[in-house]
Amino acid sequence: MVHGARVSSTPEVLPAPDLTVWQDRVRLMVKPRRFEHVLRVARLAFDIALANGLDAERAYIAGILHDIARDLPDAELLKLAPPECDIDARHPLALHGRAARTLLERWGFADGTVLEAVEDHTTGPRPHNGVSKAVYIADVSEPGRGVNDDIRELAMTDLDAALRRAIHSKVTYLQGRGIAVHPRTLRVHEALL
Ligand SMILES: [Fe+2]
Ligand SMILES: [Fe+2]
Repeated sequence: MVHGARVSSTPEVLPAPDLTVWQDRVRLMVKPRRFEHVLRVARLAFDIALANGLDAERAYIAGILHDIARDLPDAELLKLAPPECDIDARHPLALHGRAARTLLERWGFADGTVLEAVEDHTTGPRPHNGVSKAVYIADVSEPGRGVNDDIRELAMTDLDAALRRAIHSKVTYLQGRGIAVHPRTLRVHEALL
């Protein structure tokens, strides 16, 4: 069953004794088509992590959890993740990664690596978190998206190169259209250059 609240985020401790409990929660919280996406992301994140010598089990779990807040109403997202910037305030959907982390922590989920991957899947992974990179790439390139096949393939041999390509194309796409880029994504982009 779901374990009790813990303050620690020790990465050595596996987060959930029973993944099916968390998976069932996600299934209840998202639309059916989203849940299919979630399963594809988890499987692909597992494969990418394995291919890159990373913790594939954590990547799978983070994939299962990453969109748990994706179908919540804007008002709920804003409560769970108070805006940090203009973009967050104007587009609360941008908050669903951070909101997911808040929810999971409240429910006693305590694995820091997975929580960070869930939080950062909307804006981009931090450099030290390989699991987060695997989830980010899986999210943007899972086969159901119908785009980014090249990024998915590249990730199997060079995850950082795939990440650079994914973040760079996102930033240049938005900037080319005069759309503001989230400050967190800009920080990731600068770190990768
Ligand atoms: Fe998402
Ligand atoms: Fe997703």
